[in-house]
Amino acid sequence: AKITFITSDNETHIVEGDSGSVMELAVNNGIQGIDGDCGGVCSCATCHVHVSPEDISKTGEASEIEKDMLELDDNADAYSRLGCQLAISDALDGIVLRVAK
Ligand code: FES
Repeated sequence: AKITFITSDNETHIVEGDSGSVMELAVNNGIQGIDGDCGGVCSCATCHVHVSPEDISKTGEASEIEKDMLELDDNADAYSRLGCQLAISDALDGIVLRVAK
């Protein structure tokens, strides 16, 4: 799937992946602002992204654990997801993700 990341300094990076998580893809491509400190176990929120509103139907629902984690983040909104909880598949093709501050 082709995935677009927009970093906090408004740089656009289009990267491609076919497995793993959005967090792993971002880290492997050096996307600024995605750290993945907890290694992808939904406990650090350093992989926080905002899904563009028109793409939100591509991602499915966040799990309860993910929602709880996002609630602790002041910058979270209705389009927030944790990148480590988004598995890359064809369903995400074309998605635009803004890296959270
Ligand atoms: Fe830690 Fe996603 S990498 S919550």
